Amino acid sequence: MRVEQETPKENIQRERTQSLRGAAEPAPRSADPAPRSADPAPRSADPALRVCDSVLDAIGNTPLIRLSKFIPSPSPQCFVKFEAMNPGGSSKDRSAREMLLAEERTRGLEPGAVVIISTSGNMGIGLAMMCAYKGYRLIAIVDPKISPVNEKILRIYGAKIVKVVERDQHAGYHLTRLKKAEELRNKYPDAIYIDQYDNQWNAEAHYRTTGPEIARALDGKVAAIVIAAGTGGTVMGIARYFKDHYPETHIWAVDEHGSLALPANSIPQPRYLNGMGASQRPANYDYPTLPKYLDKQHYVGAAESIQAALDLARTEGILAGGSGGAVVTVMKNVMRHAYRSDQNVVGILPDHGSRYTADFFDEEWLSIRELPVSLAVDGDEP
Ligand SMILES: Cc1ncc(COP(=O)(O)O)c(C=O)c1O
Repeated sequence: MRVEQETPKENIQRERTQSLRGAAEPAPRSADPAPRSADPAPRSADPALRVCDSVLDAIGNTPLIRLSKFIPSPSPQCFVKFEAMNPGGSSKDRSAREMLLAEERTRGLEPGAVVIISTSGNMGIGLAMMCAYKGYRLIAIVDPKISPVNEKILRIYGAKIVKVVERDQHAGYHLTRLKKAEELRNKYPDAIYIDQYDNQWNAEAHYRTTGPEIARALDGKVAAIVIAAGTGGTVMGIARYFKDHYPETHIWAVDEHGSLALPANSIPQPRYLNGMGASQRPANYDYPTLPKYLDKQHYVGAAESIQAALDLARTEGILAGGSGGAVVTVMKNVMRHAYRSDQNVVGILPDHGSRYTADFFDEEWLSIRELPVSLAVDGDEP
């Protein structure tokens, strides 16, 4: 008996009619189904199309985006590395992965293990993401400066939040958080305490990934990189990588007025930019050797940084957080004049501005702190 074969056009016609009728009957199977291989699909060699075995593998390889409007001409070729494209939304995913894997290597963590971290947000989120995947229980010690969005994200990943509310003797919360960490370590003697301020793996993450990614993307031709200073992981990892492999590249560190992270300031003052700065000197910087790694140190204010983040969003369509704003303000106002138009300058944007709609990008938040930034859009009612 001869079986009538449908032409592809008839096949499409029939499927369309069936879907219009509600596809009561399943379409007959093709007489000659395409052979299926039992092997998984071949993996693409193109890093942009990579298949990740877990969320851990999805960390890194963030894009470098050229700035063509935010920085006036003449200027060097300016690029930003958009770390918000990491799966947990910030550059801290890289350090969280490296620090937790180091603990696993040395202590052999079992599912259910308790991990404690003092964090202003992003490191906690990176670790919470990792702990969710690994089956560990994260306790995140935070302070009132955490953005409400970050706090919610931590909870979504299943982290337990312990919030300190008392200010320390420098009018910040850093030291109060450390005191709380000590208390919790006594309470959970088997817990893993991750000290991101004094942890070789924090910077190592950036030595192994962020630094080489920048160098590869620009063929090693990088005149300068500007990095926001907090725990020191990002700046020290990238600085060490470049000084080892491309010593001509200048490393600029940017910090908020009143922070003690960089050695150029020793008078603490209240600060506003989430994730940047420190109320005491983090050991990650290894201060005696620091001049070998940092070519420039620059201080910025919160208002100019938030304004720059806003301007970046409205000119380039790139929405960064306050520390990203600090980075691009230095690129625009200082580095633009320091490098030639044929040189490449890179800034690291640590996270996404959407995390700060209830603080940096909120009129009331700005007005309470008397930060002169206007969120008005042209054409808004006065
Ligand atoms: C938004 C943001 N910017 C900058 C930094 C500073 O990075 P690092 O701690 O590696 O110095 C952090 C760190 O948490 C951060 O979350």
